[in-house]
Amino acid sequence: MPQLPIPADLETLAQEILSARKYRSLGITPATVVDLLAKELLLHHNQKEAVKEVRRKLHNIVADYLGDADFASAGQQMEEAIHSGDPAQVRKVCAEILSSHASTRERLSILDEFYPRLFALIGLPSLQKGRPQTILDLACGLNPFSFPWMGLPVTTRYYAYDINQPRVDFINRFFTLLGMPPLAEAEDILVHPPQIAADVAFFFKEAHRFEQRQHGCNLAFWQALQVRWLLVSLPTSSLTGRHSLVDGHRRLVYNILAGLSSQGSQSWQVTEVLFANEIVFCIDKGGSNLRLIQKDGDCFVAKPPRNDGWDKEGNDTAQI
Ligand SMILES: C[S@@+](CC[C@H](N)C(=O)[O-])C[C@H]1O[C@@H](n2cnc3c(N)ncnc32)[C@H](O)[C@@H]1O
Repeated sequence: MPQLPIPADLETLAQEILSARKYRSLGITPATVVDLLAKELLLHHNQKEAVKEVRRKLHNIVADYLGDADFASAGQQMEEAIHSGDPAQVRKVCAEILSSHASTRERLSILDEFYPRLFALIGLPSLQKGRPQTILDLACGLNPFSFPWMGLPVTTRYYAYDINQPRVDFINRFFTLLGMPPLAEAEDILVHPPQIAADVAFFFKEAHRFEQRQHGCNLAFWQALQVRWLLVSLPTSSLTGRHSLVDGHRRLVYNILAGLSSQGSQSWQVTEVLFANEIVFCIDKGGSNLRLIQKDGDCFVAKPPRNDGWDKEGNDTAQI
């Protein structure tokens, strides 16, 4: 494939793409578009085609169609609820905010059990009763508004990352009202993987979308994170609820992890936690090479598969 010369001023081209009305108020960092342009210009015959593909990918990355909160009115309600000092009021407003985005709306029905089960699993010696002290919430969307369901103290250092600036500002307003440091940041985590050392990173419902943005990008991204536990979640059914995605998403995760053995790197221990509509792959990046497969209620510890990403044992465990 002939390669186009990369225009010297990708930044200007990126700004032009971001000047579209639908992106104007979102404060998307030009780094995202520069990254997309640099990759697509290598793959297309002409600049017009490359820019068209960048616009298509950007539309999916920003994913306006998943919904968002009305920050003005939700912010007002949130302020009143937090000032009331009534935890039930705070949860009620947070639940409304969570329901305004598809990813968190789907999680509402499992929220009561979601974090208790995950935190029980990742109980590390350095944590108080298995509760993380430093969290990274990667491509967070509105998930930080789940904080009241996490059972964590406001001293928790909760770093949240999203490319959508108004969303990040809204999250920081919430953190500040709760008495937490405003650690949400507008950042493209693929271009600049966070380097904060943390007990656990949440990477919820985004790994499959990262693959669509840049095939094969997940492994290097996961490796770059300075965390003991990486919790990667994926939906178990399509947005319409009609198709099961469990097998495909397991394959996706184990194919990514199979890349570790191709590199000759030590594999990571994975424990799956299956909820009604979301599957969480709890990846212990500090763990040793695991040989056993253990069943523990709905959780199981899977042996990392061979290079094809889906060996016989992996299949067996998937059917538990
Ligand atoms: C499918 S939603 C998932 C939200 C959240 N993780 C959850 O499960 O509730 C994807 C979110 O990731 C953000 N996002 C997409 N690509 C990103 C990137 N490269 N860096 C930071 N945020 C990103 C989008 O703005 C959106 O809020």
